[in-house]
Amino acid sequence: MEKIKNFEEIVNHLKATGYVYQGSEIYGGLQNSWDFGPLGVSLKNNIKQLWWNEFIKKQPNNVGIDSAILMNPNVWKSSGHLGGFADMMVDCKNCQSRFRADKLIEENTSITQLDGKSSEELDEIIKTNNIKCPKCNSNNFTNARAFNLMFKTFIGTLEDSKSSVYLRPETAQGIFVNFANILRTTRKKLPLGIGQIGKSFRNEITPGNFIFRVREFEQMELEFFTHPGEDMKWYQYWVDYCYNFVLKLGIKKENLRIRQHSEDELSFYSKGTSDIEYAYPFTSWGELWGIANRTDYDLKQHQDGSKKSLEYLDPYTNEKFIPYCIEPSVGVERMFLMILCDGYEKEMVNDEERIVLKIHPSIAPIKAAILPLTKKLSDESLKIYHDLMQEFDVEFDESGAIGKRYRRQDMIGTPYCITFDFDSLQDGAVTVRERDTMQQIRIPISELKEYLKTKTKF
Ligand code: GLY
Repeated sequence: MEKIKNFEEIVNHLKATGYVYQGSEIYGGLQNSWDFGPLGVSLKNNIKQLWWNEFIKKQPNNVGIDSAILMNPNVWKSSGHLGGFADMMVDCKNCQSRFRADKLIEENTSITQLDGKSSEELDEIIKTNNIKCPKCNSNNFTNARAFNLMFKTFIGTLEDSKSSVYLRPETAQGIFVNFANILRTTRKKLPLGIGQIGKSFRNEITPGNFIFRVREFEQMELEFFTHPGEDMKWYQYWVDYCYNFVLKLGIKKENLRIRQHSEDELSFYSKGTSDIEYAYPFTSWGELWGIANRTDYDLKQHQDGSKKSLEYLDPYTNEKFIPYCIEPSVGVERMFLMILCDGYEKEMVNDEERIVLKIHPSIAPIKAAILPLTKKLSDESLKIYHDLMQEFDVEFDESGAIGKRYRRQDMIGTPYCITFDFDSLQDGAVTVRERDTMQQIRIPISELKEYLKTKTKF
């Protein structure tokens, strides 16, 4: 069995099979925007449903929320997202790290008086001093420009500063500003997790690597509030929980690592941050999941900004305090890409190549394909198809040789192929062929639903 991995090949495969299309393609596209086709939307929905089940539904301490994308602009003042509005930023074109131009210059030269310098002047200084990227040592920077990651738009018809709002750059703030609402209406006690899945927007200067870094993306975020003092215990709990979630999805252990942020990489308010990283084929390691101990920073900021108390009154000790928060945050598209890169395999089977997406059956877009051996058996097979369709995502395919039809399903990651043959008319059973092992077993039609239910569990 020979295996080859190549990112461009995987991307082409995903485009060709209807997982992902270029956004606005018939108009020549829009840079770095992507649409998810029939298989893509199904995989995305399955990922989100699975996250919701494992992080909200099955967690007695956790609840969900769906907050608005447009929020009062003061939210972004308190969160710090509006603070860097006038900062001149440069991006390293090689490793995509972003730096404040003045800091980069100060740290690499003896020049200090940089206030009020234009972007052209900053570019000139960076160039003439041959300043290198602190992360990767490249000197290939974008031009400096005043940059805020948030997309700005206007409410109503007036384009003035009073009506300006921002598309949220993270779902987390919608959770923080609802902390008191949730405490009051659910009467929950600490520890309390509040989770949300939703779109976020960042006006990245250098998006890229297909759907890895995009301007419009979906996040699955949990803000888990604890007593100060219990924060590090829960931080470790969620690092382990997220890592085990990825392993349970069948992602190869050798392609995963947990990287703890060093002291100088940590945000000033963070007591600890770990990234679960995946060996995406276009880089050595890329961030999948960030788990951060954000202390009481966010709630304090919003308490100060809103002048509303966000303190928690401990019912057992009568102690009043602002809870600490542990945040596991992951992007749907990054998980989607990891699953497909990890699952994509090219194998030689009996001197023929097969492309197969070995993705966990619980999230596979199509759980089973129903294949009549010949078209003469289509009517009987369609009965099974219509029956299974009530509970599972299934496909019906009657065209072409059976071997070709198996390969078609392998290519899109369908874990089970159900073949109805002439014997089926007599014995009421079908052949079920498993995607990864290609082994076939005979199963009574009456037991198919139970079989698929068991086999497609997480
Ligand atoms: N809330 C963390 C992030 O969006 O990266």
